[in-house]
Amino acid sequence: MKIFQSFNVFATTFAMIFIAGSVKSCEKDCRAGISNAFADSWSNEVKPIFENFKKNATSNLFYGISFDKISSDPNVINKITKELINSVSGQCDNFTSEYIYEMPGVIQNAIFNEEPKFMGDCNNPKRVTQPPKGVNWTMDDCVKMDYVCGNPPSICHFFDVNKNKSFVDLDQKIANYSAPGGVYITAIKNNVTAIATNYNLTSDGANHLETCISTNFQSWLNVFPASFSSAFCPDMCPKYDTNIKLLLLSYP
Ligand SMILES: *[C@@H]1O[C@H](CO)[C@@H](O)[C@H](O)[C@H]1NC(C)=O
Ligand SMILES: *[C@@H]1O[C@H](CO)[C@@H](O)[C@H](O)[C@H]1NC(C)=O
Ligand SMILES: *[C@@H]1O[C@H](CO)[C@@H](O)[C@H](O)[C@H]1NC(C)=O
Ligand SMILES: *[C@@H]1O[C@H](CO)[C@@H](O)[C@H](O)[C@H]1NC(C)=O
Ligand SMILES: *[C@@H]1O[C@H](CO)[C@@H](O)[C@H](O)[C@H]1NC(C)=O
Ligand SMILES: *[C@@H]1O[C@H](CO)[C@@H](O)[C@H](O)[C@H]1NC(C)=O
Ligand SMILES: *[C@@H]1O[C@H](CO)[C@@H](O)[C@H](O)[C@H]1NC(C)=O
Repeated sequence: MKIFQSFNVFATTFAMIFIAGSVKSCEKDCRAGISNAFADSWSNEVKPIFENFKKNATSNLFYGISFDKISSDPNVINKITKELINSVSGQCDNFTSEYIYEMPGVIQNAIFNEEPKFMGDCNNPKRVTQPPKGVNWTMDDCVKMDYVCGNPPSICHFFDVNKNKSFVDLDQKIANYSAPGGVYITAIKNNVTAIATNYNLTSDGANHLETCISTNFQSWLNVFPASFSSAFCPDMCPKYDTNIKLLLLSYP
């Protein structure tokens, strides 16, 4: 029993020395930290694109509508159109905040789960030395760590690769959400249906309204992925890089 315990102490001490001497990987708080840093910076670029989308998509909401199928009362038409515009525009704001909320997860997945995955051993061959606790990695480490593995300097060395993977997935998310049958058009249809129900429209009136609005909205969704992709950091937004790299290099 006694011998066993001291063996354990010995083994633990050995393991601690071994770990302290090795090069660590970008752990949970590091992964979350850099994903949040990218998302915080890039959300500034995303917001105006969604604003333009909202402007576009609310501009011709009623194109092709026969209002006489909805109601014979101009007052009702007036109220219902105002409510629809508010609702659709509120829903676009919801899309914006939801997307920004989801950005860190998409970015984290792109960096660590998409090829090339920034995981694994950085000791073979050895390029950099783990700085002592409380000391940051340096930009020089970032230059030296020239193969793909799990530590912060490697992620930093291949910064553009990681940004590219993130842009691809962020674009893909917009494409998924904007597809016919996707979450965006589904949410809009639900809002229109709720309003048609509140105003006691006939089923013909409600169907006509829903068809027109969803057709018009979807026509903007059809071009949104291309608009988004070309408007979102066309130069890859280098202005945020230095701060994000410094943060990345502050993780052990
Ligand atoms: C908004 O519409 C303009 C003009 O058609 C188009 O150039 C732009 O890409 C659209 N933007 C978005 C985000 O839908
Ligand atoms: C749109 O519909 C959702 C769910 O049906 C509802 O929670 C939300 O309040 C509506 N938004 C607007 C702006 O009408
Ligand atoms: C907010 O937008 C998301 C899509 O990003 C959608 O799935 C959700 O239903 C919307 N919320 C409401 C209350 O309509
Ligand atoms: C990132 O993507 C751009 C455009 O798609 C490409 O020109 C560039 O070579 C890529 N950079 C890296 C490091 O993968
Ligand atoms: C987009 O949808 C495809 C197919 O459903 C899925 O495999 C992919 O993971 C989605 N991408 C993102 C970024 O949500
Ligand atoms: C719709 O019908 C309900 C019940 O018949 C009524 O209480 C409500 O005021 C009507 N709504 C409108 C906007 O006319
Ligand atoms: C490490 O980097 C972080 C982020 O840039 C910075 O706030 C911190 O002061 C740095 N620490 C040292 C010891 O230089």
